[in-house]
Amino acid sequence: MAKIKFPATVNVFSKLLLKWNAAQNKREMPWKGEKDSYRIWLSEIILQQTRVEQGLAYYEQFIKTYPTVNRLAKAPDEAVFKLWEGLGYYSRCRNLLFSARYISKELKGRFPDTYDGIKALKGVGPYTAAAIASFAYNLPHAVVDGNVFRVLSRVFGLATPIDSTEGKRLFTNLANELLDKKQPGRYNQAIMDFGAVVCKPAAPLCTGCVFSKHCVAFTENKTNKLPVKEKKISIKNRWFNYLILEKADKGEIAIRQRSGKDIWQGLYEFPLVEAAGELSAEEVIRQGVDNKWFVQNSFELVSVSPLLKQQLSHQLIAGRILYVRISKKGKGDDGWTWIPKKQLKKYAFPRFINQYLQQAGKQGSSF
Ligand code: ADE
Repeated sequence: MAKIKFPATVNVFSKLLLKWNAAQNKREMPWKGEKDSYRIWLSEIILQQTRVEQGLAYYEQFIKTYPTVNRLAKAPDEAVFKLWEGLGYYSRCRNLLFSARYISKELKGRFPDTYDGIKALKGVGPYTAAAIASFAYNLPHAVVDGNVFRVLSRVFGLATPIDSTEGKRLFTNLANELLDKKQPGRYNQAIMDFGAVVCKPAAPLCTGCVFSKHCVAFTENKTNKLPVKEKKISIKNRWFNYLILEKADKGEIAIRQRSGKDIWQGLYEFPLVEAAGELSAEEVIRQGVDNKWFVQNSFELVSVSPLLKQQLSHQLIAGRILYVRISKKGKGDDGWTWIPKKQLKKYAFPRFINQYLQQAGKQGSSF
């Protein structure tokens, strides 16, 4: 068990949290109080790396399109990816499909009902397993995520780095000690909501907080110093220069499915020239010719997009999209599928490309 200097707070923590939940928690979400494990699972996978406000519409659309795990299991990959488009971190979508098919086939459509069974599903870690187990089956497993780290580090004044092995052990033990074993589902939802709406990362609402008398961070005026993180995340800069190659005679466009094991695996893209720094349009074109995607003197550079950017948690993507009409295909384009321009809508693309396609569509292009 965690060694805590403030046993009195340990004793009242759950009571105060649930008091706040009953009297002041106004947060409404469609999966609150939900008992259907499939729906809970779906909401938790969506919320793993997505804000509640952004995830809501996706959740509703998924439930409408695939109301049961068996229906999701039967869906074609392309359709599910298309529905996920815009949420990012596509491994979640791949794992969701994989697990739906596993549940449908191997478990005969019965969602696992033990913590270990749930955690064995692809894409489900300890946090998501605790959330599903407690919400769907009232099993006594405490959720430990960013919200929980923040609330506990502040209330108990714990400066152990939350990204250290010791910190993870300390906070997980404490979280399980504090968990209300009679109503773990309600308790878990309450601490998530409390972290999201009261004990916020910046500008927490300390005045009037139910913990204000007990909270070490508040009483010692150090809410902005907690929680502590050991490692600084380093952001990698990547430059993506996409070439939309259009065959002058047929109007077809080259696309390819990304196979590399990264966050865009399974999505489609155009021929890509990636670089460590900014490239001029001429340099991108030269690489296209060098790669034999098209032939010198047999192409027309139609347009160059403004600088596009996308900030991800660990990388900053910047670059441009060049529209090139080609009259002669090069020999080095074997990996590409040529599709009519109008069919681009059917394929799921990374956000970086979609922001361009949407903008171009608004300006009258036939995307
Ligand atoms: N984040 C992850 N799961 C959540 C939930 N059930 N409610 C609110 N935010 C969440």
